[in-house]
Amino acid sequence: MSTTPVLEVSGLEMHFPLRRSGLSVVRGRAAEAVRAVDGVNFTIERGESVGLVGESGCGKSTLGRCIVGLYKSTAGEVRLNGVPVVASKGQRNANPRVAQIIFQDPYSSLNPRMTVQQALMEALHVHKTVTRQDAERRCSELLDLVRLSSRVAEAYPRQLSGGQRQRVSIARALAVEPELLVADEPVSALDVSVQATVLNLLADLRKELGLTLLLIAHNMAVVRHVCDRTMVMYLGRIIETGPTERLIADPQHPYTRALLTAIPRLTPGHRSETPALLGDPPSPIRLPVGCRFNPRCSQVASICHETEPNLIFGAGEDADRAAACHFAWTDPVAPTTVSEAPSSQ
Ligand SMILES: Nc1ncnc2c1ncn2[C@@H]1O[C@H](COP(=O)(O)OP(=O)(O)OP(=O)(O)O)[C@@H](O)[C@H]1O
Ligand SMILES: [Mg+2]
Repeated sequence: MSTTPVLEVSGLEMHFPLRRSGLSVVRGRAAEAVRAVDGVNFTIERGESVGLVGESGCGKSTLGRCIVGLYKSTAGEVRLNGVPVVASKGQRNANPRVAQIIFQDPYSSLNPRMTVQQALMEALHVHKTVTRQDAERRCSELLDLVRLSSRVAEAYPRQLSGGQRQRVSIARALAVEPELLVADEPVSALDVSVQATVLNLLADLRKELGLTLLLIAHNMAVVRHVCDRTMVMYLGRIIETGPTERLIADPQHPYTRALLTAIPRLTPGHRSETPALLGDPPSPIRLPVGCRFNPRCSQVASICHETEPNLIFGAGEDADRAAACHFAWTDPVAPTTVSEAPSSQ
């Protein structure tokens, strides 16, 4: 078996240019852009399950779409099984046999005029030449795999519950036996009561199929039970990464700590003094100078207004963890050089 990681993301940037007004062109202002993904580097090994968490608008979906080739990145590279992804407009993704993506709202990604069987057959035929008999057999295997009864095969999406529809979209993604499944908030549109069952299904599929998973979510509670490793994203960058349980037990970035306080039952008692997030994230068009978290950070120091911190790896048993904070791996209590937190947002 090859040792090439299933996914390698290096120096990835995805900037959406803003329309320039006539005045800004006359004044010679540089074109502005939404820096949705702004310098992201990571790899995912075969069989790993990795979480990607962060607030709304921090660039999670954009990153997911770049990975499967739905967006052509502004800079940097994505490699799947060592091969660079070439974005191809209009196609579901560029490398269907390697990576597939599922979305938050399975209703909008399933064709309302196709039965479940037709949707699965279409996925099988698009990617492989198979006989009708083989395709039918494979459809029933796929339904089995996602724990749906074979009776569902003749149903249309509108006749299914949200949880069932998400299972169908998982089955359709798995039809081509991808190595990497990018699941973009697969449970946030579902009733709380069915969220756990779909997450458990993803965890089971990972074991059964040796699937590599990138699970995108707003909060840590969703990724906790499924992901070995978690990456925290803030304004287009990965600002902390590490094995999920240790990241939760001992977060190094003030943003991660604040995210965790949003879920009280995940917060260890000794962190209860950590303040919740101050205000909304700044605009991804004009980022703060220095650390991009500085307007909201409760521990901001002068260096944080000067230099943007890179990911800093821990030492010893924390060598597999990293955080982009000048004070990572130091005393978690406020550093001595703390200055007044700016009052403006
Ligand atoms: N096609 C696009 N054109 C212009 N700007 C975009 C486009 N897609 C996303 N953006 C902007 O890029 C930033 C990141 O958006 P993205 O959807 O990736 O965030 P997200 O983390 O997935 O958010 P959510 O949790 O709400 O799904 C946002 O500021 C968003 O407005
Ligand atoms: Mg999103």
